[in-house]
Amino acid sequence: MSGSQTTYNDKVVRQFAVMTVIWGIVGMLVGVIIAAQLVWPELNMGFLHFGRLRPLHTNAVIFAFGGCALFATSYWCVQRTSHARLWGGPLVPFTFWGWQIVILLAAITLPLGITQSKEYAELEWPIDILITLVWVSYALVFFGTIAKRTVSHIYVANWFFGAFIIAVALLHLVNSAAVPITLTKSYSVYSGVQDAMIQWWYGHNAVGFFLTAGFLGMMYYFVPKQAGRPVYSYRLSVVHFWALIFTYMWAGPHHLHYTALPDWTQSVGMVFS
Ligand code: HEM
Repeated sequence: MSGSQTTYNDKVVRQFAVMTVIWGIVGMLVGVIIAAQLVWPELNMGFLHFGRLRPLHTNAVIFAFGGCALFATSYWCVQRTSHARLWGGPLVPFTFWGWQIVILLAAITLPLGITQSKEYAELEWPIDILITLVWVSYALVFFGTIAKRTVSHIYVANWFFGAFIIAVALLHLVNSAAVPITLTKSYSVYSGVQDAMIQWWYGHNAVGFFLTAGFLGMMYYFVPKQAGRPVYSYRLSVVHFWALIFTYMWAGPHHLHYTALPDWTQSVGMVFS
């Protein structure tokens, strides 16, 4: 492998890895600040109050810290397990720089109170469009690399990474559908209980696919690698994949128990949870 290893694109992996550390420090620092604000309310100063810093914390830790970690590790893993260099040419650096611009725009707009008011989907519509462009590029790079793999098998870690990429694209597109009013203000196309259901289908699966499926992809590659032995049961890992994918998508209504959401919908959410 020594010959082909030198052809892997590790520059983008390094860039995302460095930003994972930086955004981790920033995001958790904001977490410490909002925790302190809960204890000492007098720390809520001017526009930097809990209501505006809390979404900054959640976006920073989930999408900046977690997102950069997922980009870095999926790019590392898909190359090694496919025996192929990342496909996509300029799309690869675009995913890095585009994602950093999304994060910077979030850091500017959220403290200013510019928000769609949907938890974990607060960013306004122009940023949502940039997220879509970056995410479609990410999908092209990831699946393009799988397509040009020089080994026949697709290792289970890539199934999890692939499901994470597809599901997040679907969730983001559906939940963020909005009618723009100005550059910084839009209204969701959904209203009332439909809005609540779509939002928590999104919110639940943002955790399920961003923070769970993606990170499981990471684990299925790096834990056996560090342990120096294969996964205990590869068959079980495939069962794990389908069990998670099948059940997670339906569990969103458990965020809306005892609300105006139709009772049967709440029951479906409860059973799948
Ligand atoms: C130094 C580390 C951290 C501190 C001090 C911290 C602190 C906080 C605080 C005070 C809240 C608001 C709780 C409330 O509204 O009552 C919060 C919410 C949240 N944090 Fe953190 N956090 C940290 C790390 C993280 C990390 C690493 C993640 C995920 C990658 C994360 C994800 C979240 C999420 C998803 C919420 C919303 C939870 C909910 O509404 O149920 N946090 N955090």
